[in-house]
Amino acid sequence: MAASDNRHVVAVADAKALARAAADRIMARIAANGDRVAICLTGGSSPKQLYQLLATEAYRSQIPWQRVHWFIGDERFVRSDDPLNNMSMARRTFLDLCAPAANVHPIPTDTADPEQAARRYEHELQSFYGAHQLDSTWPLFDVVLMGVGPDGHTASLFPDYPALDETERWVVGVPQAHVEPFVPRVTLTLPALNSCREMLFEVSGADKRAILTRVLAGENLPANRAHSMGATIWLVDKAALPENFRGR
Ligand code: 6PG
Repeated sequence: MAASDNRHVVAVADAKALARAAADRIMARIAANGDRVAICLTGGSSPKQLYQLLATEAYRSQIPWQRVHWFIGDERFVRSDDPLNNMSMARRTFLDLCAPAANVHPIPTDTADPEQAARRYEHELQSFYGAHQLDSTWPLFDVVLMGVGPDGHTASLFPDYPALDETERWVVGVPQAHVEPFVPRVTLTLPALNSCREMLFEVSGADKRAILTRVLAGENLPANRAHSMGATIWLVDKAALPENFRGR
């Protein structure tokens, strides 16, 4: 079975409760690390409410912005001002209002191609981490946020794509996407994403129920190969939760 054994499914009422639960988990991870904190954000629509919540006074005033760094797990290879750009969504929603510019680490998309962008971001991550090799006892990130797509992809790791089997590189270019938007992508690889204290999936809405059923059955899907070296939490709202998980 491909599923990780450190996965915990946490069911919440709805999308609003899900955003709150995710925000509280992020706050707890920030509080647990008195030093420099690294958070890897995700794209797609799932984290939007969470990002909006982090911009509210209740959360914003509690975040030690000077020592928290924000990365992104994958990017669509479009200009930074394109509405499809993942980091731009996070920037518009909360980072530009709250975070020092030097603490925001977007994947560049002004390079010749996704592969060059991947090399640059890998270099940036390695400089931040202070080494070229990941140490299995020292996580790159405190928190990695994730979503899951209808085909079981996560970040831009699509089923049966070579990026999924990468063991050395931290970031790679993905020339073609498996689902919309059909633009090239740049993605962190499993070794980099999995190098975290906590991985937090957000899954919300009835249209996620079919893929979540497959994930929870342990099918060999990219999302089932992503798991933290610490805790892997799947925050799921009622609408997305498969029948056989209800009432557990
Ligand atoms: C992207 C993503 C991708 C996303 C899932 C879920 O760039 O599209 O990072 O992996 O998280 O496709 O997307 P939704 O949140 O929009 O359902």
